[in-house]
Amino acid sequence: MTTNKKTQIPAFFDPGSSRPVGVVPLCSAAVFTLILILQFFPHGFKLFFDTSILVAGPPVSHRASTFSPSARVAQDPPVCESPPPFPTTPPVSKPLAMALAEEARAVVRQFDYSDENVNKGVKEFLRQLDEGLHKDGTSLSQIPTYVTAVPNGTEKGLYLAVDLGGTNFRVCSINLNGDSTFKLTYSKVAIPKELMVAKTSEELFSFLAKQIEDFLKTHHFHHYETHVRRRNTVSSPTGYKDEHVFRLGFTFSFPVKQVGINKGTLIRWTKGFDIPDTVGKDVCALLQTEIDKLHLPVKVAALVNDTVGTLMARSYAAPGKTGAVLGAIFGTGTNGAYVEKLSNIKKPLEGEFDDTTGDMVINTEWGSFDNQLNVLPTTPWDVQLDKESPNPGFQMFEKRVSGMFLGEIVRLAILDMMQNDKISFFKDENSSFNDWRSTTNIGKHSGLFRQWGLDSSILSVAAADANPELGTLRQQLESQLEVYSPSLEDAQAFKAIASAVGRRAARLSAVAIAAIVLQTGGLDKPGDEPIDIGVDGSLVEHYPSFRDMIYEAFRIIDGVGEEGAKRIRIGIAKDGSGVGAALIALVAAKMEQHNPFANHQLHNPPTIA
Ligand code: BGC
Repeated sequence: MTTNKKTQIPAFFDPGSSRPVGVVPLCSAAVFTLILILQFFPHGFKLFFDTSILVAGPPVSHRASTFSPSARVAQDPPVCESPPPFPTTPPVSKPLAMALAEEARAVVRQFDYSDENVNKGVKEFLRQLDEGLHKDGTSLSQIPTYVTAVPNGTEKGLYLAVDLGGTNFRVCSINLNGDSTFKLTYSKVAIPKELMVAKTSEELFSFLAKQIEDFLKTHHFHHYETHVRRRNTVSSPTGYKDEHVFRLGFTFSFPVKQVGINKGTLIRWTKGFDIPDTVGKDVCALLQTEIDKLHLPVKVAALVNDTVGTLMARSYAAPGKTGAVLGAIFGTGTNGAYVEKLSNIKKPLEGEFDDTTGDMVINTEWGSFDNQLNVLPTTPWDVQLDKESPNPGFQMFEKRVSGMFLGEIVRLAILDMMQNDKISFFKDENSSFNDWRSTTNIGKHSGLFRQWGLDSSILSVAAADANPELGTLRQQLESQLEVYSPSLEDAQAFKAIASAVGRRAARLSAVAIAAIVLQTGGLDKPGDEPIDIGVDGSLVEHYPSFRDMIYEAFRIIDGVGEEGAKRIRIGIAKDGSGVGAALIALVAAKMEQHNPFANHQLHNPPTIA
């Protein structure tokens, strides 16, 4: 027994030691045993102490053998597994940190979206997709766009495009070179918040027209000035030639009932816009009226959803024999447009179109997928977000996926945790609780306390920060959210929750993309021709590994799997909506060939700029 002890004790304290067991190791063993007994049997302290007095006299080796019962305690596996015998951090902070980590894990679990549910989501998406092809007024709107072909890269010409659809309004001119390349010039202005909820459409649309005027003056001054001079010198206001007029593609990224290539009425606003006066009106006409008031040489030639523009742009620029099948946006909002067979569109098509291709681009408006919540994952924070949003019950998919909402979900979850007395989140009792040896403070104007106050960009920072100290994230918590000196545990909890929300969004995105891929039947075709998808938007562009998480989900989707996932090619179509709008303006110009006046201007290509 004593021999056993001798071989075990040095191995425990000094694994590499070749020293013979002697007085010092045995003393260490005694001290260690004492610590163990104090730690694990605090109530037995007195008894132990008395015994130790009794054995105080004999030589050290005897003492060791007297302690043999305690030494058996030291061999207990749980004790051996966690070596530091002396506490290195204030013991009191541990339970709080552990409670916070535990609570964060519980919140994270609520955002889990299992493989099984992903598959259920795809099935339901396909069902709702089909329903929308049969009738109007369904959850997935499935809006026919009257665009019946995608470009092949040979298109040429100079066009204007404007893009209204999120936080910014963009005006651009695009020179299509006819060899899959283009030159784009653009300016961008933030939409004043008050205009997003203006009383009348005129307030918003006159602002847009003014931006077009500024753009022309800055980037196409010669053409603009020639036009003004011509107008002022001819006797009738229509005396100038139409060939001098820019064709403008209007990217309007809201649900619109499109009835022609440059005609469509607003169904509802999304993404925080709310001007009831516009609903039911033709948005192209609203813009044209304001453009005409400023006498600008611009004709609104095409109405385009940003997803349709992205699809067009990807097809123009992407390599490959076949065009893209899907254009999708994962930005402030989310949506997708894809190429559907005309024969599958069972609801009436009111506008005119060329049916020779047998296809038509459909704007799915998938932001509204499953508004009835048949399959969408739902946490208490999703419920709260929806209830407090300007459009409760609508855009339920978008509210779980897009940039406008992800920050708000995180904010609501975090706010709940901050109000939980059992954990200490973004607060410290004193500086010993905080690894920065300070105490966390939150500014009273912190975005954490304001609806929409947590910008989704911090989710990307959280996901990207792989440093053990989470320094970048903590710095952003300070600068963006006025959370001063957050502890490491706070930042870890924040990162875990933000990442769970981001991951769920990516897996939901995979549901929508995979369903469309399955619907278009591309994977059923033999060969290895890629199924091409153009995407744009801050989330897919900047959120770390967003696309990787989408692919990870593809691999477990029935009908896609490992092999199918390899064939799906997702590529960024940067500024797709602008380029795509230009391409559709070009299509519109070709359609004008049926009109004798327009014929004239097509044979005499625009001399603008
Ligand atoms: C709109 C769509 C748009 C998407 C992406 C959604 O809120 O309803 O029309 O395509 O945002 O911008």
